Amino acid sequence: MILVTGATGQIGRLVVEQLLKMNVPVRVFVRNEDAFKDFHHVLLEVAAGTFEDKNSLENAVKGVERLFLVARDNPDQVVQHENVIKAAERNGVKHIVKLSALGASKDSPIALMRWHAETEEQLRNSKIDWTFLRPQLYMQNLLRFGDSVASNGCFSTPMGSGEFALVDIRDIAEAAAKVLSGRGHADKIYTLTGPAAVSYEDIAKHLSAILQRPINYNQVTQKQFYETLLEKGFPSWRAYDLAYIAEAYSNNSNKLITNDINTLLNRPSVSIQDFLNDYRVNFRDKA
Ligand SMILES: NC(=O)c1ccc[n+]([C@@H]2O[C@H](COP(=O)([O-])OP(=O)(O)OC[C@H]3O[C@@H](n4cnc5c(N)ncnc54)[C@H](OP(=O)(O)O)[C@@H]3O)[C@@H](O)[C@H]2O)c1
Repeated sequence: MILVTGATGQIGRLVVEQLLKMNVPVRVFVRNEDAFKDFHHVLLEVAAGTFEDKNSLENAVKGVERLFLVARDNPDQVVQHENVIKAAERNGVKHIVKLSALGASKDSPIALMRWHAETEEQLRNSKIDWTFLRPQLYMQNLLRFGDSVASNGCFSTPMGSGEFALVDIRDIAEAAAKVLSGRGHADKIYTLTGPAAVSYEDIAKHLSAILQRPINYNQVTQKQFYETLLEKGFPSWRAYDLAYIAEAYSNNSNKLITNDINTLLNRPSVSIQDFLNDYRVNFRDKA
């Protein structure tokens, strides 16, 4: 039995679908018990609970061999994940696959990268086998620009002129399911990237070609972006992480391209052009 945490999230949900497609029994750990009520599958079990509720975790990990650890970034996540790891250790879980991030480091200026590094260290020090999946930024983050592109033909972001090997979450989820259901992945780190490093200027050019109208990238400063997010009510740590995320990639790791997706999935990772084409309706003029 595999326990998938964060199962209602964008990656977790796809991992559940992939595992069930492979006929692997899955238990989902969800805050909302009804989240999977329309998702009937003979191999699917639902365990309700939260990372803060230790009793719910204790029940959820019973009989579980492997666990997928994923959550929404937040200042309590290191403690939340520690609760999961402790419950897993007590109940004989053999392997935890942790969704981390490229750039995870205790010295990072970005809080979420420090939190990922802390949880990675806890897993390294645990009795449980671990695998870290460290994706580059998600292509699906670009969907946040959908309304602006559709209405104004432009998008604004503080990513400067840097190039990033953005990765499609569909590839991440398929890779996660492969690792969770396969053998030989203990104590390995997979760095999941797209097949090419692209700038946001390149993305605007690809969008212009796909939508057949000019789409512009407005570079805003990190400070401007940070202040806009604060005005919108974002907590300051989140506003800072989103505005300054490009600082997380030292030593040109923003441009790093790995073969890990090809190795795990036996095919190339999804290109930015294919991603934008698949999701083009999200950037179309609204009727
Ligand atoms: N965005 C990027 O470019 C990027 C790149 C690399 C790595 N990452 C990493 O990806 C992870 C996020 O993955 P995602 O996008 O799939 O997440 P997501 O869509 O935000 O989903 C988060 C999941 O965690 C669950 N959750 C949140 N708090 C919980 C709690 N206290 N107890 C139990 N469950 C809880 C949520 O449940 P509810 O539905 O109940 O809220 C949801 O299922 C983060 O760790 C992030 O650092 C992101």
